[in-house]
Amino acid sequence: MSAESAIWADSLSKTYCSGGAEVLVFKDLSLEVCRGERLAIIGESGAGKSTLMHLLGGLDRPSCGSIYYGGRNIVSLGDQELADFRNREIGFVWQIPSLLPEFTALENVMMPLLIRGVTSQEASRAAHERLHEVGLRTRESHRAGELSGGERQRVVLARALAAQPKVLLADEPTGSLDFRTGEMIIGLLNDLHAAHGLTSVFVTHNLGFAARCDRVLELRRGSLHTPSAIELQEAGVLIQDATRLGGGTYV
Ligand SMILES: Nc1ncnc2c1ncn2[C@@H]1O[C@H](COP(=O)(O)OP(=O)(O)O)[C@@H](O)[C@H]1O
Ligand SMILES: [Mg+2]
Repeated sequence: MSAESAIWADSLSKTYCSGGAEVLVFKDLSLEVCRGERLAIIGESGAGKSTLMHLLGGLDRPSCGSIYYGGRNIVSLGDQELADFRNREIGFVWQIPSLLPEFTALENVMMPLLIRGVTSQEASRAAHERLHEVGLRTRESHRAGELSGGERQRVVLARALAAQPKVLLADEPTGSLDFRTGEMIIGLLNDLHAAHGLTSVFVTHNLGFAARCDRVLELRRGSLHTPSAIELQEAGVLIQDATRLGGGTYV
C-alpha cells in the first residue's frame, strides 16, 4: 500500500451461498484507489461490480481478504464499529435513489448526521448547505416522494456528503435516469468530487462518463482489467484526452 492510497483492497474473494449452491463472484481481487482519484469501474451485468462496491463500502464482508482505509483494515472491525466508520467516512449513491418518501428533502439529508449524534440545529444547517450545493434549495421542504427522479438523486448526493465523508462510492448513479438528467448528475458528481476533495469510485455503464474519470477499470471474469483505448472506442467512447484514462497504454 502506498502513502497515496485511500483504499487498498488486498486479495478479496467473495462467494455467495444461495439455495444450497455456491456462487463465486471473484477470487484474489486486489485494487488500490489513490487519494483524490476518480475511478470508474465498468463491466457487464453480473460481473460483480455491486458486490465489490458493497465490500469496499463495508456493507458486506468478503469471504477472504482485507480492505484498508489508510492503515485500518475495515474487515476486522465489529459490526457497530463498521457502521460508525461507514457513517463518518463513506458517502453512498445507488442506482435507485433510496429516500424516506414521507420525510422532506431536508430531513432526509439530516438523517446521517442525526444518527451520528449531531444536534438537530447543526444537522439542519449542514443539510441546508448541501441541498443548496446540489441546486435544491427551493425543494428543501418537499417530501422526497413528491420529487422527480433527478431531484431525488440530487437529494441522495446531498445526503451522501452531509457528514463530510472522504470517500464517495456510487453504483450506477445515472442508471435509472434519462440521458439529460444523467448528464446533469454526472456534472454534479464531478463538481462535488472536486469541491469536497473526495476519492470517488463510480460504477457505470455510461462509457462517456467513465472516459471522463481519471482511470477506468473493467471487471471481467472475476478480475479487474485496464480496457484498451480500442476496446473503449469500439464501445462508442469518444476519447478526447486519452491520457486521462490511466494505465499507461494510451499514447
Ligand atoms: N446476495 C446474493 N446472493 C447470491 N448471489 C448473489 C447475491 N448478490 C449478487 N449475487 C450474484 O453475484 C454475481 C454478481 O452480482 P452483482 O455484484 O450484483 O453484479 P453487477 O453489479 O456487476 O451486475 C451475480 O451472479 C449475482 O447473481
Ligand atoms: Mg450492480
